[in-house]
Amino acid sequence: MQGFQLGHLPSRLKDKDVCLVIPGLFDLVWLSRALRDADVEIRENLGLKRAPGACTSTFLLLRLFNWVYLIRTKNNRVGLLGIYDWEPGQHAFLSVVIWSDTQRDRGIGSSAVRLAMEGLVENGLCKEFFVEVKECNYRGIRFWERNGFSQINTRDGIVLMCLSWGQGCQ
Ligand SMILES: CC(C)(COP(=O)(O)OP(=O)(O)OC[C@H]1O[C@@H](n2cnc3c(N)ncnc32)[C@H](O)[C@@H]1OP(=O)(O)O)[C@@H](O)C(=O)NCCC(=O)NCCS
Repeated sequence: MQGFQLGHLPSRLKDKDVCLVIPGLFDLVWLSRALRDADVEIRENLGLKRAPGACTSTFLLLRLFNWVYLIRTKNNRVGLLGIYDWEPGQHAFLSVVIWSDTQRDRGIGSSAVRLAMEGLVENGLCKEFFVEVKECNYRGIRFWERNGFSQINTRDGIVLMCLSWGQGCQ
């Protein structure tokens, strides 16, 4: 898994409640199962347009993203954060899903995003962040806005949003 990384980003990023870890072997088994059972919304947000088998989905994810972090709380694996289209020293795109409704609205997604952005900035890997969210995903758009992102444009039903670290986006 580490072999899929293009630059140095710590294998573990942690705050009081949330931990981002590069998936190990057992995590990948869990991930395959979780992807097998995931609903369309989750698959789409991870960029999996079709619904191939669990192992193929996991492989596609590892190909699609420069880095994949598993989002963990104290006892549970609760979601996934992917970093893709990384332009070294410049920008990266983020994608995040919290798997279960019971784990949402607890601040986990926001903590995960903040940890990832801080990790990328502090390691000099990028200074600007983009996300692509479906126009109809109001919850997703509000989530990114709450985390400091601004809408740039909408094309083909996808809203492009941006955050420049340490300054306004535009
Ligand atoms: C969007 C998504 C990632 C948000 O994750 P999350 O962990 O629920 O996010 P947070 O808990 O940090 O924030 C969500 C809400 O909970 C609120 N919240 C944050 N901490 C809280 C806490 N401790 N207690 C109660 N509510 C809290 C936030 O204010 C926010 O409120 P809002 O809905 O009015 O914006 C999650 O809903 C998800 O996985 N959706 C499907 C995939 C998706 O759409 N991804 C985004 C596009 S890439």
